[in-house]
Amino acid sequence: MELQLAVLDKLHISAAKSLPMEVKLDPWGAVQIDDYSKLFEEFGISSFAEMLPQIDDPHPYMRRHIIFGHRNYGSVQRAMKEGRPFAVLSGFMPSGHAHFGHMMVMNEIIWHQQHGADAFAAVANMEAHAVRGISWELCRKIGIEDYLLSLIALGFQPSGHIYFQSENYPMRNLAFELAAEARFSEVSAIYGFSGETSIGHMESVMVQSADILHPQLSMFGGPKPVVIPVGSDQDAHIRLTRDLAYRMRRFLVEQREGYVSVRGKAASPQLMGGAEEGLKEAGYQVKRYEEHLDIPGNDLERIDELIREIEVKNGELGFLPPASIYHRFMTGLTGGKMSSSKPDSYIALTEPPKEAAGKVMKAITGGRQSLSEQRKLGGEPERCAVYEFLVFHLSEDDSELEEIYTACKSGRQMCGTCKKEVAERIARFLAAHQQAREEARGRLPEFGIKA
Ligand code: TRP
Ligand code: SF4
Repeated sequence: MELQLAVLDKLHISAAKSLPMEVKLDPWGAVQIDDYSKLFEEFGISSFAEMLPQIDDPHPYMRRHIIFGHRNYGSVQRAMKEGRPFAVLSGFMPSGHAHFGHMMVMNEIIWHQQHGADAFAAVANMEAHAVRGISWELCRKIGIEDYLLSLIALGFQPSGHIYFQSENYPMRNLAFELAAEARFSEVSAIYGFSGETSIGHMESVMVQSADILHPQLSMFGGPKPVVIPVGSDQDAHIRLTRDLAYRMRRFLVEQREGYVSVRGKAASPQLMGGAEEGLKEAGYQVKRYEEHLDIPGNDLERIDELIREIEVKNGELGFLPPASIYHRFMTGLTGGKMSSSKPDSYIALTEPPKEAAGKVMKAITGGRQSLSEQRKLGGEPERCAVYEFLVFHLSEDDSELEEIYTACKSGRQMCGTCKKEVAERIARFLAAHQQAREEARGRLPEFGIKA
């Protein structure tokens, strides 16, 4: 119960914070919050709220707790702050149209790029081909038309890396190396694979792990913190990949009671010797055993770093486990989940602005049965897909949000006018975005993409 409340509190949007305490705010609906608190408890995702004070110029998604969870984001945040190299990467499966959910991932990539990250965006055409049966040709078309043009239009810079999985051979070679460490039983337990699952599907899982780890290859400057912005549905991939990253190490470095243990994992005698020497050079006392070294004290982090460097010097990969951030999903405009099989539930980034406005006008709101009831009871913005669009995408200004929230709650605001305003904003946003997409089209070669 305690934890539940803490989670509730953390999921409040900041705009709502200044309202009186006794107004119990639950902007996202109890069911969803239940689900998210489960993610914290059962899967070990950490709350992003604890990171926020460390970030100087947080993205509105961060400020508004739309990004609600993370793994290991501290590694990225510290690199960002200290001006050390770090990277951001995510991938897009070229099936169906890109919608506002995909745009969130794009904006998260771009924000990190603007804050110093080496940025990577994958078009997951191997996955789409193997899992969804989409032809290579169509993958290319959808990848460019629906995803890459929007990514560039939103501000992705050519200093970053855009690639199609099938064309990235260093990444594909890494996928094979990772596959050599992954077990059929664990991977099938995670993804529910059976004897009927195609090998290609299984390979695409390794390819996704390789996507995530390949910014740490020496061709990109070696091991570094990497953040993967995704929806929480992708967490299984992240956990598996973090595990594989550990397995690719040649040493297991662990804190024990009063000493740090450095255990070789099939490390060659040369590598063992190199590690011992390197540690001694750095001023550590080292006790050498056949397959491990013990170093008195508690200097885990620095020793791990040192050992990683020694691994890399000897041609090993020395991966850091990747970090991740998780954003909440938007509700569909028709209530329930956004789904590509329900075209009225979502708005595509390529949709004619008028059509999109029409969907907003038809959307499920948190309004009451009648106007008089709404005046009396107030609306329920926390259950309103229209309000959610504002929070996620269409209002830059927290105080404006707060105004709309209280106006709705207090029964001063009626859904008709509110929807009309949001519909207009969406139409305006899409018109501008689509113009930027057309400008991006001419710039594709700057990103190494042949149209
Ligand atoms: N599997 C992801 C999806 O279904 C796409 C993806 C491919 C991806 N490679 C990735 C996501 C790497 C994050 C990181 O949307
Ligand atoms: Fe949603 Fe606006 Fe209606 Fe409130 S007034 S329920 S925010 S559409």
